[in-house]
Amino acid sequence: MTEDRLSNQRGQVAVATLGREAWWLQPMLIVLALGGFMVYTAWAALQGTHYEYKNYFSPFYPTFTKPEWWPFSPAFLILWAPAGFRFTCYYFRKAFHRSVLLTPPACAVADARAGYTGESRFPLILMNLHRYFLYLAMVELAVLWYHAARSVVFDGRLGAGIGSLVMVANVAFLSLYLTSCHSFRHLIGGRLDCFSHCPTRHALWGQVSRLNERHDLWFWLSLFSVGLTDLYIRLLSMGIISDMRLF
Ligand code: FES
Repeated sequence: MTEDRLSNQRGQVAVATLGREAWWLQPMLIVLALGGFMVYTAWAALQGTHYEYKNYFSPFYPTFTKPEWWPFSPAFLILWAPAGFRFTCYYFRKAFHRSVLLTPPACAVADARAGYTGESRFPLILMNLHRYFLYLAMVELAVLWYHAARSVVFDGRLGAGIGSLVMVANVAFLSLYLTSCHSFRHLIGGRLDCFSHCPTRHALWGQVSRLNERHDLWFWLSLFSVGLTDLYIRLLSMGIISDMRLF
């Protein structure tokens, strides 16, 4: 096929797609959602305050006390790990390539620029660090489960407020996001040659594979929940809203 015929064919397909579908809508929504989340996270991290309210604790901040030698907000001591996990996520990479780099912006729509080299060169080759960020995210998730458990203890007794629900829902969505990760799936059963010798791992791999099919959904739900959890605790801490006890 000649270059002319190829570009003509691409042009016809793109025009036909434009005529029936608003292909630009999804990339635009993704840019708005990701951009809004990044702006809010950066703002919340820079505050350095209002990340704790009674037994509720923001997922953006570390449990430990900020060391004296650290001149910035304590959030930056830990945020780089979950941020690295998100930015190297396979689904994020797809969304980023389509919505930001426009390579391509949608199915049957031509690349916005020539010379795309994929993830074979710096800096995008760093995306291959994802499996290592997964290990750090597992540690972070364990800490968030500890905070979620604390959120249902009031003065030494079991209880629940709206904040408890928010924190438990957040850590549940984050767990679904992490356990549906492609690298986690590989960790569970990806290197096995013979499943019949490892029935437990095979069963786990099957469950993780099912979760993996909706990884995009868990990505977005956990992204919104983690931002909203920080916002809820921040508003409580600032005295703008008050928490409602359920029991
Ligand atoms: Fe998305 Fe691992 S592939 S978190």
